[in-house]
Amino acid sequence: MTQDIAQRIAALADELEEHLYRYHVLDAPTISDQEFDRLLAELQALEEAHPSLVRPDSPTQRVGGTPTSDFPTVRHARPMLSLDNSYSRQDVEAFDRRVRQSLPDEAVEYVFELKIDGVALSLIYQDSLLVRAITRGDGVQGDEITANARTIPTIPLRLRQSGVNCEIRGEVYMEISDFAQLNAQRAADDGPLFANPRNSTAGSLKLQNPNLVAKRNLRFFAYWIHAEGGGQTRHSECLETLRAWGLMVPEHQRCASLADVFALYDHYAAARAELPYEIDGVVIKVDSLSQQERLGYTAKSPRSAMAYKFPAYQARTRLLDIHLQVGRTGAVTPVAVLDPVPLAGSTIARASLHNADEIHRKDIRIGDTVLIEKGGDVIPKVVGVDRSERPDDSAEYAFPNQCPSCKGSLSRDAEEAVARCDNSTCPAQLRRRLEHFAARNAMDIEGLGPAVVEQLAAEGLVKDLSDLYELNVESLGALERMGEKSAQNLLDGLDRSKEQPFDRVLFALGIRHVGTTVARTLAREFGSLDDLCKASVEELEATHEIGPTIARSLYASLPDLPALDRVLYKLKNKAKLQFEMEAEEAAPASHFSGKTVVITGTLSGYSRDEAAALIERLGGKTTSSVSKNTDLLIAGEKAGSKLARAQALGVAVLDEAAFIAQLQEAGVA
Ligand code: IVH
Repeated sequence: MTQDIAQRIAALADELEEHLYRYHVLDAPTISDQEFDRLLAELQALEEAHPSLVRPDSPTQRVGGTPTSDFPTVRHARPMLSLDNSYSRQDVEAFDRRVRQSLPDEAVEYVFELKIDGVALSLIYQDSLLVRAITRGDGVQGDEITANARTIPTIPLRLRQSGVNCEIRGEVYMEISDFAQLNAQRAADDGPLFANPRNSTAGSLKLQNPNLVAKRNLRFFAYWIHAEGGGQTRHSECLETLRAWGLMVPEHQRCASLADVFALYDHYAAARAELPYEIDGVVIKVDSLSQQERLGYTAKSPRSAMAYKFPAYQARTRLLDIHLQVGRTGAVTPVAVLDPVPLAGSTIARASLHNADEIHRKDIRIGDTVLIEKGGDVIPKVVGVDRSERPDDSAEYAFPNQCPSCKGSLSRDAEEAVARCDNSTCPAQLRRRLEHFAARNAMDIEGLGPAVVEQLAAEGLVKDLSDLYELNVESLGALERMGEKSAQNLLDGLDRSKEQPFDRVLFALGIRHVGTTVARTLAREFGSLDDLCKASVEELEATHEIGPTIARSLYASLPDLPALDRVLYKLKNKAKLQFEMEAEEAAPASHFSGKTVVITGTLSGYSRDEAAALIERLGGKTTSSVSKNTDLLIAGEKAGSKLARAQALGVAVLDEAAFIAQLQEAGVA
């Protein structure tokens, strides 16, 4: 009996998955919705009565996940890189020349593929079952969002080929009509709107309830595969394999010449408005996998592929007003208030005007008809004025010399185009600083969004960052619309933020020029805020990826002694935030772990900086001169005295090929 039921459950699950595949992937359903629902109801009833027989790949398990409060961070088996961008035929021709020069006397074929404007996702399959889905994150590690990915019907829970262990990468996206419908619903509910389909995809993937994700109509195009024992020799074969395994792949075509590539590009540049989803360009990939491998990677992207972006969408509209926004470092930026105009799938009512000089240079006036442009992920900007439509009574725009928030005077550095409010107690700056501090990529404080920040600041409960940690149930009780539960949530969120590592704290402080990457670099290099503040301009400049201008400005922005800064003192000693780096989490075991490495000579595949970054990522330390403390020398072409010295000292030496082999072993090349 149980045997029969198990068989029926399995048959129903298989049949339903097949119908989902035909409907979503092939777009060719063979049964009616009612018939599908009837089969699904039968399966659900059987599974409910026999929970032990529920298969992990049963279609009923797509939305089986329970809400999560957070997504675990997971390291990618190999980094998720990005693509180099090109914007002109010349850029693409230069790419083609580089490829051919690196592969002398070989025929090169390309695959032309659409570049989907969505969110990258990595899927891990074991024995053909989907076991994990991880967002790109910073490329090295991302969020595990498996329960959410399982709700996407075009992501197979089981591949249509048995016994496969692989990683598949691709793009999650939302069709433009689904995006429009979602925003219409949100507008009706008075909710905040998404700027474009990509943002709504990203937002949907981060929802903490898979049942809600399932309603978002997300879809997936696969464009990359790494399979154990995969027999493919060409990228185009990989795409065929992905299709055979039940996935959708982006529209693509093999091209023997650049002329073919350009013809297809022109075709899609015109046809993209008719596609149901957004593409922001095309991707050109070397078809042969062996050639791809030999072309290798830079620290950021494969040398065998290139994105060729479409030009930005443009529109004309009237400039109704110019608003001034005060940022967290006091920078005052002008924002164009526009007569709302549709542009590339969204309605634009505001656009960036950069700064006072830009307004002056372009002589942009209120009342003008302006040209606005939107390029992919950036906020639309005003790029020009149609003078012929200028009203007779228009006047040149005079940039105010007072802060719109605190009315203090604005200053301007000779070197900078930005007008700045220097009043550190400016109410607008305080709000922006608090918002930045609480943001997801900073201290990630739940319950401290812009509306709560506004209340806390307006009521005078929070006058600086350290005041946040002195809030309590009573003081929060005084706020309107803040129930006991939300108050407790916020206090819990603040408490949890005390565990954030030093690099997050450093970023959250909102020091000029200290973005997430710089914060991470500085935290690693100097170890603590005290030591960072003691650093000289030269020491700052010697830090990987920090140039002289930033070093100087950073030096000026850092307090001399954190202990004498009241807010920092309280954040460190009373709130007990992490002002020091904890011992680094272990880098993946590699040939470079714990070693002191020197790089010399010219490497053909990497710049010195790229090679150093990879070695550091793998747990090694790089220095510039060879000594008895050196463990390893990487010797490129024309290695001179350092190689001789290393040999004299008996230091191990790797040539470029051996170096790359070690990187490959560690999974970063
Ligand atoms: S290949 C090494 N193919 O564009 C990166 N990417 O920066 C390999 N994208 O992060 C990516 N469509 O999220 C590739 N057909 C396509 C793509 C595509 C969209 C995204 C992807 C990647 C970004 C490039």
